[in-house]
Amino acid sequence: MKDKAIGALAGLCAGALALPAAADEIKVGLLLPYSGVYAALGNDIEAGFRLGLAAFADETEARFAIVREDTEVKPPVGLAKARKLVLDDQVDVIAGVVSSGVLGAIRDFVHNSGVPLIVANAGNDEATGEQCSPFITRMSFSNRQVNRPMGEWLHAQGVQKVYTIAPDYAAGRQMIGAFVDGFTAAGGEVVGQEFTPFQTTQDFGPYLAKARASGAEAVYAFFAGGEAISFVKQYDSFGLKEAMPLYGAGFLTSPLYVEAEGPAAEGVIAALHYVPTIENAANAAFVAAFQAETGRVPSEYAVQGYDAARALVQATATGAADRASLAQALAKVSFEGPRGPTAIDPATNNIVQPIYVYETVAGETGLTQKVLAQLPAEADPANGCTLSATN
Ligand code: PHB
Repeated sequence: MKDKAIGALAGLCAGALALPAAADEIKVGLLLPYSGVYAALGNDIEAGFRLGLAAFADETEARFAIVREDTEVKPPVGLAKARKLVLDDQVDVIAGVVSSGVLGAIRDFVHNSGVPLIVANAGNDEATGEQCSPFITRMSFSNRQVNRPMGEWLHAQGVQKVYTIAPDYAAGRQMIGAFVDGFTAAGGEVVGQEFTPFQTTQDFGPYLAKARASGAEAVYAFFAGGEAISFVKQYDSFGLKEAMPLYGAGFLTSPLYVEAEGPAAEGVIAALHYVPTIENAANAAFVAAFQAETGRVPSEYAVQGYDAARALVQATATGAADRASLAQALAKVSFEGPRGPTAIDPATNNIVQPIYVYETVAGETGLTQKVLAQLPAEADPANGCTLSATN
């Protein structure tokens, strides 16, 4: 027991902990929800991650072994699983994390243990703001990045009054906060807001009744996974869609589950950092490979897993010999990917990428994503992050 504790402590102090020699195995801890409202998201990130490892593996001699752990979308469980991956399984790197709440819960442990974390979803602004760390690199998006420009865009379309609704946890609060910042700075008015109990709300009816009575012209929402499916379907069956168009963060109508939403999703307009209909060569190759593997078009979650794997391969190929240099190499990756030019901002370790406004429309073989606008890539403000002094 004592030996184990000393070994664990040594590991904890060791951003400099040696990585296996090149050509040996790098152990990756995939920390994802495999149960709860975000289970499908976790599975899609893993599918993308495995595809990315396979696609780019020949860029490095290293081989990768995967250990999976289920966060259950619960912050304390996520922390316990992160500890298990680092202390018991002795992984060299962690990839994953879907919920902003889980990311907030594991941030200090990751930072203090010096294990590189590649964030493959959670948009928690603080993780690349005041809580940033040289060990945390985000290959997905930040909550602010996706929503603030949509506030400006929506106002430019002539919408003046909105009602907002999102789950009551870090991501819901931050996404709506960023949207409201953009929308009100442009001159818009928020006439009402609702934050619904996370993971437990089944019936959105009472909230939709308040939205209807609010005098808003439109509703702006963030929901994802199982909650998005329920919300979008109930919004339509409540008869709101015609009277008050539905806008949101694009996870609302993700290609991962838009078929489960069905016609209720048609006409919803939302902002996201990736849709499978983006036209570029890297995306064509990715969509074809993902379809061949799964029979489905890839979602934003799949591309985040794919790009996280590509970043890991690229960082490993630099010959990084310990965790600290692997983390440094991760923060310097850049490539032409399915989302277009993809790079990390050295001031925060957050990804910089364009944002797409898209409408869900009926296509030849089902629902598809029609791009209405491409909003320019903007780096988030450093918000207290001082990484640029060290990177
Ligand atoms: C988050 O908690 O940061 C989160 C979860 C699911 C999404 C997007 C963001 O689709």
